Amino acid sequence: MPVHRYEKWWLTFGIGTLAVFLAVLGLRAFASGHTPPGSVLTVDPELIDTIAPWNAPGVYDRGDRVDVYLVGQAFSYAPNRIEVPVGKPVTFHAVTKDVVHSFTIVGTTVNMMLIPGYANEATYTFKAPGRYLVLCNEYCGVGHQFMQAEVIVR
Ligand code: CUA
Repeated sequence: MPVHRYEKWWLTFGIGTLAVFLAVLGLRAFASGHTPPGSVLTVDPELIDTIAPWNAPGVYDRGDRVDVYLVGQAFSYAPNRIEVPVGKPVTFHAVTKDVVHSFTIVGTTVNMMLIPGYANEATYTFKAPGRYLVLCNEYCGVGHQFMQAEVIVR
């Protein structure tokens, strides 16, 4: 089948821009330290209030690192105010009791989905003290825009 010269140019241009786009996406993700979610821990959403560690959400200092256990539900996070130290790796472990939410700390690489039935986690080391806003960026219902928390780094 003969292909017209202009059509070949357009195909080359289209495939070329796609290749450039994917390369830029990959390089940006690599440079920003993004990683795919690695956790496949399952949890029954109806038992979250009764099973450890989700029955006691909060901040746990382990010495050289910090674990934060979080429970999301429409339209709040527990805990709502998360105090963590500066310069220590903080691992956020999160679950949801009802629908899909996200746990997104603005200005950091922490941006994970909370999916019913699964525990998700993300580790981040805060380099500067301050107050960081946590937002839900998965539409979860009429109160979605009020679903937020804060991370206080000291
Ligand atoms: Cu939770 Cu939107």
